[in-house]
Amino acid sequence: MADARPKVYITRRIPQAAVDMLAAACDVRHWDHDEPVPRGELLANVADVDALYSLLTEKVDQELLDHAPRLRVVSQMAVGYDNIDIAACTARGIPVGHTPEVLTETTADLTWALMMAAARRLVEAAEAVKDGQWTTWKPMWMTGPDVYGATLGIFGLGRIGVAMARRAMGFNMRVLYHDAFESPHAAAVNARFVDLPTLLAESDFVTLHCPLTPETRGMVNEDFLRRMKPTAILVNTARGPVVDEPALYRALSEGWIHAAGLDVTQVEPLPMDSPLLTLPNCLVLPHIGSASIPTRTRMATLAAENLLAGLAGKPLVYAVNAAALGG
Ligand code: DGY
Repeated sequence: MADARPKVYITRRIPQAAVDMLAAACDVRHWDHDEPVPRGELLANVADVDALYSLLTEKVDQELLDHAPRLRVVSQMAVGYDNIDIAACTARGIPVGHTPEVLTETTADLTWALMMAAARRLVEAAEAVKDGQWTTWKPMWMTGPDVYGATLGIFGLGRIGVAMARRAMGFNMRVLYHDAFESPHAAAVNARFVDLPTLLAESDFVTLHCPLTPETRGMVNEDFLRRMKPTAILVNTARGPVVDEPALYRALSEGWIHAAGLDVTQVEPLPMDSPLLTLPNCLVLPHIGSASIPTRTRMATLAAENLLAGLAGKPLVYAVNAAALGG
C-alpha cells in the first residue's frame, strides 16, 4: 500500500525537537550534517518531496522548483529569505515560511555585544593577554570610544532595530534611524527619523538592520563610508552583501572610519585570505546573531510548525508570501 504520509526533506542538522515534530507526521529525509548539502544532492532529494525545510545556505530557485514537481511548502529556519526566489514560489502557489519575532532579542543582544566589543576592543585585548602583551597598566593601551551617551544610528527600524533602540535607552544614547518609512514604534524607543546623510554624519555607531534587496546590496559603499565620522563604528548583523567589502577595507585601513564589527560577510564563511582579517579594527564573527540555545530551538520548531501548516493546507504561522497568495 502506498504511504500517504507526506515526504519532507530537511537540509541540515537542526535541533531534534523540530525533527521529532516532523517525523511524527511525515516521512522525513534528512541531510543530518553541520555542513550544507551539496547542490546535486539537494536537487536529487527534492524530486519526490511535498515539503522542503531549508536554511539560508540553500538556493531555492526556479531550478530547484523544476526538480520538485510535488513541492507544496518551503519552510525556512531563518527570518531572512534572500536565498529564496519568492516570486517563483508564489507563481507555483507554494507558501514560504520563515521565523521572525522569535530571534529578535537574541540577535539584538549579539549586535549589542559586537558593538561593545568593537568599541572596547574586547577580542584584541583578550588576545593580547594570551600573547603576553599585558606588561602593566598603561594609560593609553586598548582604549576606544564610549558607548554610553553616544549617538546610535540605526539603518532599518524593524523588529531588531527597535530592540537595539530599546537597549540604547539604558545606555543614555541618542538614537537616530533611517528607513524607507517612519516607524510607528520609534517614539516608544526615543528614536528620531533622519535622512541617510544626517544619520551617517551624526552617528558614533551605525548599525545595519535591513534585509538584503536589490536596493540594499552594496549600499555601504565608498560614498556611504566616507560620509560616516572618522571616529564612527559600523556594525552589521544583517546580511553581508549589504557592505562593499573592498570599500570597507579601505575605510578601515585608511581611517575613514574607526572600526567595524561584522557578524555577516559577503561570502560566508569569510575566505581566510580576506584582507579584512588582517585588520586589528575589524572584528568578524561567524554569523551567530541568533545563536542562543533557546532561540535556535524555537526557530527550528517554528519552521516545523510552518511546514506542517503548509502541508495541511492551513495558513502558515509566518508566511513571506501570504498576501501574494491571497492568505
Ligand atoms: C536569519 O534568521 O535570517 C539569520 O541570519 C540567522 O538567524
